[in-house]
Amino acid sequence: MHKRKKLSVIGAGFVGSTCAHWAAEKELGDVVLLDINEGSAKGKALDLFEASPIEGFDSKVTGTSDYKDTAGSDVVIVTAGLPRKPGMSRDDLLAKNATIVKKVCEGIKEYSPNAIVIIVSNPLDAMALVAKETLGFPRERVIGMAGVLDSARFRSFIAEETGVSVKDIQAFVLGGHGDTMVPMPRHCSIGGAPLEKFLSKEKIDALVDRTRKGGAEIVGLLQTGSAYYAPSASAVQMAEAILKDQHRILPCAAYLEGEYGVKDIFVGVLCRLGGKGLEAVVELDLNEEEQAGLDNSVNHVKELVTALQNLNY
Ligand code: NAI
Ligand code: 2OP
Repeated sequence: MHKRKKLSVIGAGFVGSTCAHWAAEKELGDVVLLDINEGSAKGKALDLFEASPIEGFDSKVTGTSDYKDTAGSDVVIVTAGLPRKPGMSRDDLLAKNATIVKKVCEGIKEYSPNAIVIIVSNPLDAMALVAKETLGFPRERVIGMAGVLDSARFRSFIAEETGVSVKDIQAFVLGGHGDTMVPMPRHCSIGGAPLEKFLSKEKIDALVDRTRKGGAEIVGLLQTGSAYYAPSASAVQMAEAILKDQHRILPCAAYLEGEYGVKDIFVGVLCRLGGKGLEAVVELDLNEEEQAGLDNSVNHVKELVTALQNLNY
């Protein structure tokens, strides 16, 4: 008999519960939602399961606070942790979320030692490192979500500005998930044609700037937390690429082993994702400006990692 895939989502807050929603609707497999707040995980899972006859999906959705129920997961998405509030940077979350992510990864390691783990908790590049160190998994099986989201923001702003369908807009963002991220307009295409055929340099610069501040724009509007629809859709797109062995090229935070001259930290790069997780890092020839942007972003991630190493979490 064909066995269904199993996807666990850790953290049943805004991002986690919305991940469960997209994943169940896409029938990626059975979905387990885990939170320290058991009632919240169970209540949201049951509510979502009760939507299945209406939406017509066959994914079973269950909630729990016990890692036993996540046993044997194919993919785990980690969203546990505090979100940003107005005035807080992603980095302010460092100490609190490092403790949470470490604890979560101990549970994953015990019950799903073969899982591929997608980290969402912020500050992303540092939390991915905490996860990798705690899990002890190879880099193929610990991947951070940021680039898909940042790129989706860039793509949606380009679509709005040009009046072209989002479906025809390809663009990506490299670097760390923070204000130093590096949107790559030179590599952006609209239906295969370069972006500068459609927009002036001033307009492109404005969209690059809006992309860098995309997370803060939502925090400023919501006031009580951070974005979750696009972040959860992004994490689920990565999970889908893995669960369906799609070999997709997506920008993700990968543990670098010398690519772009960077080693032993997570940085956003173009990746190939498939059934084995991270199948390859695609290394590009950057021009001087792009390389300088990436170097600056890498330096910021390194500062975060140094701050992390000075913490007792
Ligand atoms: P939220 O506050 O709605 O949900 C967080 C959930 O984690 C809560 O339900 C809480 O009970 C749970 N939690 C806390 N400690 C836990 C533990 N030890 N084990 C299991 N669950 C635990 O926050 P939201 O909006 O869902 O954001 C979650 C995280 O994702 C934040 O750190 C946020 O900054 C990050 N994020 C990252 C993005 C990215 O691009 N990488 C995009 C959006 C959010
Ligand atoms: C975002 O970019 C807060 O990292 C989160 O929306």
